[in-house]
Amino acid sequence: MRMHLDKVNRRAFLGHTVLAGVTAAGLAALPKRRALAANDVLGVGVIGCGGRGNSHLETLKHIQDHDKSIRIVAVCDVYRPRLNKAAERYGAKGYMDHRELLADPAVDLVTIATPDHIHGYQALDAIAAGKDVYCEKPVTHWRQFELTKKLAKEVAASGRVFQCGTQGMSDTAWKQIGTMVREGMIGQPIHAECGYFRVGDWGERGMPIDDPNAQPGPDLNWEAFLGDSPKRDFDVSRFFRWRMYEDYAGGPCTDLFPHILTPVMHMMNAKLPDVAVATGGKFRYEEREVPDTFNMLVDFPEKFTIAVLGTQGNDHQATEERGSGGRIPVIRGWDGTLTVRGNEIVFIPNRGTEKKEEKFPIERQENLLHHFQELIACSKAGDPKTSSPMELAYHVQTALIMAFLSLREGKAVRFDHANETLVV
Ligand SMILES: NC(=O)c1ccc[n+]([C@@H]2O[C@H](COP(=O)([O-])OP(=O)(O)OC[C@H]3O[C@@H](n4cnc5c(N)ncnc54)[C@H](O)[C@@H]3O)[C@@H](O)[C@H]2O)c1
Repeated sequence: MRMHLDKVNRRAFLGHTVLAGVTAAGLAALPKRRALAANDVLGVGVIGCGGRGNSHLETLKHIQDHDKSIRIVAVCDVYRPRLNKAAERYGAKGYMDHRELLADPAVDLVTIATPDHIHGYQALDAIAAGKDVYCEKPVTHWRQFELTKKLAKEVAASGRVFQCGTQGMSDTAWKQIGTMVREGMIGQPIHAECGYFRVGDWGERGMPIDDPNAQPGPDLNWEAFLGDSPKRDFDVSRFFRWRMYEDYAGGPCTDLFPHILTPVMHMMNAKLPDVAVATGGKFRYEEREVPDTFNMLVDFPEKFTIAVLGTQGNDHQATEERGSGGRIPVIRGWDGTLTVRGNEIVFIPNRGTEKKEEKFPIERQENLLHHFQELIACSKAGDPKTSSPMELAYHVQTALIMAFLSLREGKAVRFDHANETLVV
């Protein structure tokens, strides 16, 4: 079954844009980004000025006002009312076409918060244009395995700085546990469980329709929104509430699980999976196309399983817990288990081992501001070692895509390591 696996389709992605855009080859021919000294001000461009883009802008504004290490110089959106609002509020230049923003020499670093099926291509263009990148999770759409692989290779070859928008990776608990696992505290890792629970948002009620009478034209570029997704006539719900539709989103698997699977794969030192199976469906909300309930099991060649459970029909273990909705991971090895209780990491030995229960304080919890500050420091230093790099995002997204296709097709999905392809 091949129909769901993408070919990197730049022509379809760029669509019939009416703007005087810069071509992909043109982006690659741009002069590479200037070298920055520690006290230079970094020029930041934000692509996508909806819900998340505005959180980026507010966080960046805080950094701009407090340590003056950056300046918001440009914003981009295909919907002019949102673009104009952001350009005015943050004193930035506005672009309707992301390639024009990327051609702006004042931009050193971009943050990307467009819908899931759009931002992988934009990240690829940003790398080609020599910019550093903060790209929202999921790093691509479930249809885009080949794009994900290509992006991982291009980021690695470019040496550019890349941070994925899984801000939970700024929680030091995961780095601390990752080090303990690598140092052998639990012995050979064998199993991990985690999950994400949040009630009913993002779809039926969660995404605002700014203007029910909006129409495509000079103030709304529908072709650029469609990208490589199937061509369709304009639909106001698809444009503003894209999370409900499979063409642009994937429900909890791709929207919420990157937040919890990324730290767990980091802690287990997991790379590309062997096999994924999934169950779930639309168990509570009928209006959407994507599932509201999703459960997945993934096995890795290093001989361990990761289980991720989730529903948008219940929020137990949500707000009061770490990772804002993430169920606390439990990491099991041959000799013992690591998990988090309150503000401490707890090691529980297996019965029959000589090890003792131990507790370790957690240095710092999740913080979006810190996630951005780390990126900015890396960008200024030209240091690609961010806490949520593209290589990790590639491995996580591959597991998520395999699980999504497993539920959709009703089969186990395998990874062909020799050819680096999916077998559905
Ligand atoms: N890290 C987190 O905690 C977090 C939280 C929320 C959203 N997100 C992610 O951020 C992304 C955006 O989500 P959102 O809730 O802000 O969606 P949104 O619909 O509110 O915003 C997306 C914006 O992108 C614009 N857009 C669409 N196509 C474009 C294109 N080709 N070029 C430029 N702009 C385009 C839209 O007009 C819209 O304003 C999603 O991938 C989502 O998963 C991450």
